[in-house]
Amino acid sequence: MNALENCTLQSPVCDKGINNLVDALDCQSLDSNERQGPIASWVTQALSDFDPSCLQQYPDDSPLVRKLAQSFGLQPSQAAVFNGGDEAITNWLASIGPKSTILLPIPTFSVYQAVIPARNDLNVMSVPSNDALEQTIDGLVCEIESKQPDWLVLVNPNNPVGQYFEPEQIEALVCAAANNNCKVLLDEAYIEFAQTSFLASQTRTKKWIESFDNLVILRTFSKAFGLAGVRCGYLLGDAELIAQIRSLRMPYSVNQLAITMALAALEHGTLIECECRAVALRRDLLSQKLIELGLNVPPSRANFIAVECNPLQIKLLKKLSCRAGIRLRYFEICAERTLARITIPADIQPVLDCFQILCAPQLICLDMDGVLIDVSQSYDQAVIQTVDFFSQQAITIEQVIMKRNQTQCNDDWKLTQLLLEDLGYKIDIEQVVERFQAFYLGDSQNTQGLIKLEKTMITEATVTRLQARSSLAIVTSRPRAEALIGRSQCRLATTFTVAREDAAVKPSADGILLAAAQASAKSVWMVGDNVADIQAVVNAQTSGLKTVAIGISSTNQDALYQAGADIVLDNVNQLTYFL
Ligand SMILES: Cc1ncc(COP(=O)(O)O)c(C=O)c1O
Repeated sequence: MNALENCTLQSPVCDKGINNLVDALDCQSLDSNERQGPIASWVTQALSDFDPSCLQQYPDDSPLVRKLAQSFGLQPSQAAVFNGGDEAITNWLASIGPKSTILLPIPTFSVYQAVIPARNDLNVMSVPSNDALEQTIDGLVCEIESKQPDWLVLVNPNNPVGQYFEPEQIEALVCAAANNNCKVLLDEAYIEFAQTSFLASQTRTKKWIESFDNLVILRTFSKAFGLAGVRCGYLLGDAELIAQIRSLRMPYSVNQLAITMALAALEHGTLIECECRAVALRRDLLSQKLIELGLNVPPSRANFIAVECNPLQIKLLKKLSCRAGIRLRYFEICAERTLARITIPADIQPVLDCFQILCAPQLICLDMDGVLIDVSQSYDQAVIQTVDFFSQQAITIEQVIMKRNQTQCNDDWKLTQLLLEDLGYKIDIEQVVERFQAFYLGDSQNTQGLIKLEKTMITEATVTRLQARSSLAIVTSRPRAEALIGRSQCRLATTFTVAREDAAVKPSADGILLAAAQASAKSVWMVGDNVADIQAVVNAQTSGLKTVAIGISSTNQDALYQAGADIVLDNVNQLTYFL
């Protein structure tokens, strides 16, 4: 079965639902494919020219219908306006008789996926895209021929991916549909971003409407024209079909302000055409930059792109985009594949910054103990045995971890001393260190030394992958000599290493800042297993570094999230999911 057959979409109908109200004011909304940038001057002008006296009467949409028909070279009977494309879709659906069969390529605009299947007297046949998230014309023709549907609903450019069929392909499809008694609802909500010569597009539309009586085209003033707030969309097509759909519309559903603004928009086609070209250029540049970061960005011809991410990337992206004040929309294709859909902003840099630190930080700082090396049998045991030595009391590893979290202490000698204090023993730090080191490194009585029980947790493949994408540094509270032993054990022999002697221990940000300065890095991941590591990243943020705090723990996740971790992974090798 194709992965897309189970495609589910986030929040099927309402783009601006109640959940978005809270942050609507502070966030840059790149989740609804609206026009970006400052308000166009023609909009302000049209508003100031608006004569409010007309608000006392019911609206008359006939001037807009006439103007639209005229701009496409059609008869007014071949056009109808609606309260947004959404109302056109609802009325189109209401016009369809029971038991009709609808062919629906997916993924598609969430309204179709929500409202069509809700009509349970219809027979809806989904056509999943292939693994590259594409439909093919041949594939759709085959479906029409084999399934003999009453209607095909095609969005071109498609939402949420942005796939675009050239006019000749659409023509072939509509022709094949006509030969099989199938009508086509062609949703061109984003066509202005693909066919940036409006004149050529209008001429083509006229030709199609005149040649095919099985075609209804949907367009909207919400996207290229930047009028999503006034709610105005329209249908063009065979006069009989248009009359049928129009007859189901509520009277006066398109208000006078919408009519006035849509008429003004039609006067400014040339300007809007230029804007669409500029959006297309930014779209292609953003796509190219994201592809260079190793991401899958299917070609888009709309005013948005879809970036494919795995579940861990999505989890982190949600955090990073939220921190950057950017709201994106997510579409789950299957368990392992989610699309982040991004409306092309006026300035692409903040979005790029978000993805750059998601997939290619300039520097990755790795804590050693508990991240690169499993010290549960060495350092943690040395803490337990030293406490036992001085107090004759057995503490558990959970108590050690809890104390580490509470005190944000990243120095196991100090931690041992604090644990002893809790038990009522005041021991000099020198004595603690001496005993601790004897257990850890071995001595005449403990020849073995717990250090021998340490296991490397980072695999060679992970090291290679991380090194290929970013500079690496080790930021550890180990004394230098022990840090160097651990470093070679992890096949990171030449990695820049900040040890206890080089900088104040975490939660101080000093070690991270030193490593960042050495690598001239402005974007940094810190990967650590305890609260002090995470706190160090939070402290580093105040210096202007762009940072991501990555926790590593399967048992201590809540504490790490509470300390400010952006994401917590079970083990260090999962870092490769991002790179
Ligand atoms: C493919 C598609 N069709 C139609 C619409 C409806 O737009 P509106 O109701 O704002 O005209 C949208 C809006 O996002 C869309 O993406």
